Amino acid sequence: MIRFEILTLFPDFFKGPLSESILNRACEKRLIDIRIINIRDFTADKHHVADDYPYGGGAGMVMKPEPIAKAICSLKEESPQPRVIFLTPQGKPFTQQRARELAQLERIVLLCGHYEGIDERVRMRHVDEEISIGDYVLTGGEAPALIVLDAVARMVPGVLGNEDSFRNDSFYEGILDYPHYTRPEEFEGDRVPETLLSGHHKKIEEWRRREALARTLRVRPDLLEHAPLSEEDHRILNELRKLG
Ligand SMILES: C[S@@+](CC[C@H](N)C(=O)[O-])C[C@H]1O[C@@H](n2cnc3c(N)ncnc32)[C@H](O)[C@@H]1O
Repeated sequence: MIRFEILTLFPDFFKGPLSESILNRACEKRLIDIRIINIRDFTADKHHVADDYPYGGGAGMVMKPEPIAKAICSLKEESPQPRVIFLTPQGKPFTQQRARELAQLERIVLLCGHYEGIDERVRMRHVDEEISIGDYVLTGGEAPALIVLDAVARMVPGVLGNEDSFRNDSFYEGILDYPHYTRPEEFEGDRVPETLLSGHHKKIEEWRRREALARTLRVRPDLLEHAPLSEEDHRILNELRKLG
């Protein structure tokens, strides 16, 4: 079981997403445990103030260091020791590979910033890792925390039920996923590709690999530079490149 603790100023943000679907079932099955912790509970004043004006002036507020530090220290009193991850656009870009690695841990703290961010000193002293979910800026770290939690949780054995469902997913093997179809056989004049109806497993597998390679070549050719590709994959790619 992996435990996630989310440190936030907006705990209600998580109510809806965590009460639905796969994450909710994973909690019920005790494959993952999610705790939402309000940073305001660690403030010392009666108004529970967790932010303040920036030194040096300028727009926006900054999250105060003391409540965050207190919250993290109180979590560290319990074993096993957590990995403390701060969500920030200045962090390392989040990847499927990092999600797989984090799924090996027993305990992860996800620290959500807000306003202009958190005081630099708490970041230096109490954070183990910084993750960005992309080169754009959101209002808070809550949506990024949910994204990281979701991506890591679905790598935990048992959460998806069938592990094959993530092995073929985009990025897991370095390339994009193949196209998916379900009933009806014909929709708005387009038929499901005949190979998928053939029941011929080897041919279906070959068709899917070719489609996945074709899609990756078309949309994300950069992924092909690092993807583990077989000789047959290279042959298919050369053929696709010639076809244009
Ligand atoms: C408005 S942002 C602060 C941005 C900060 N001033 C900067 O430019 O780096 C407020 C909070 O949202 C979260 N956040 C915003 N964009 C993010 C991203 N791309 N990845 C991860 N967290 C993000 C962070 O927790 C951040 O502290």
